[in-house]
Amino acid sequence: MVDRLFSDAALVELYDVLCPWEQRGDLDFYLELVMSAKAVLDVGCGTGALLHRAREIGHAGRLCGLDPANAMLDVARTRSDIEWIHGDLDAVAWDRQFDLVVMTGHAFQVLVDDDELRRSLATIRSALTEDGRFAFETRNPLVRSWERWTPDNAAEITDASGADVRVCNEFETPVTDVVRFTTTFTSPRWDQPQLSSSTLRFLDAPSLSVFLSEADLTVTEQFGDWDRQPLTDTSPEIITIARRGKASAPWNATRTHEGSPPRHSLLSRRATLGWPPLRMVRY
Ligand SMILES: C[S@@+](CC[C@H](N)C(=O)[O-])C[C@H]1O[C@@H](n2cnc3c(N)ncnc32)[C@H](O)[C@@H]1O
Repeated sequence: MVDRLFSDAALVELYDVLCPWEQRGDLDFYLELVMSAKAVLDVGCGTGALLHRAREIGHAGRLCGLDPANAMLDVARTRSDIEWIHGDLDAVAWDRQFDLVVMTGHAFQVLVDDDELRRSLATIRSALTEDGRFAFETRNPLVRSWERWTPDNAAEITDASGADVRVCNEFETPVTDVVRFTTTFTSPRWDQPQLSSSTLRFLDAPSLSVFLSEADLTVTEQFGDWDRQPLTDTSPEIITIARRGKASAPWNATRTHEGSPPRHSLLSRRATLGWPPLRMVRY
């Protein structure tokens, strides 16, 4: 079931106000990849901001957005020159149709249980052309950013009607590699606070590598932030680009130094837990 903040039109209206393009580091990173691909699938496309922008600036190929939340897709559908598909990766099957598949805005983290994650990766692999790329990010659990998801880190925004809205997150304990939290929206526009519950998975880099490898996907590049910094223990993100096929050697990813393994391969496989959103409220 989709979280209320993505399925309730009144809350969805606030999504792009809370997560505007200019305050996100990720979308310019992905836009460059999208513009260099002929056929793009955006899984968990939400309100469609990335594909909208790509079309606006001249992408002439196939752009396809997939999302299980109709209220998000209703915003996306304001552009009719893009394919919008209602559903998740269990509802679709493509055979080598896309040379780029992306999951942005931490949409990858909604894949919480192992079986769903494995099925989703298999569907993505199958959708990729032989030399296609899968680009996505997941928050680095080592930095425990969920610990900042507390009411004293609330965001204040103004909605389209001019009403003030306060938005805060509150995570639940205990935390494992799965984080459960509630987002609370408070505003004079409602008699009562509006609540939405979410669950996100925080895979560490070694565990992520195992899932990708089992799905016959190979990491070709990995970064710790949107400026393409190498992944380290303190990086906020684990940004990954993967292709079809097995790695010829362990950690066949971008090397930080010739002849030495990438930084993330040196991380101990700690049973660390947690995560955070880019902006406090974003997920
Ligand atoms: C935080 S939003 C990200 C939206 C957009 N990608 C962005 O960057 O702004 C997460 C999106 O994932 C979608 N979603 C939830 N469960 C999903 C699933 N199982 N498969 C694909 N998308 C899912 C939600 O409906 C929501 O639109």
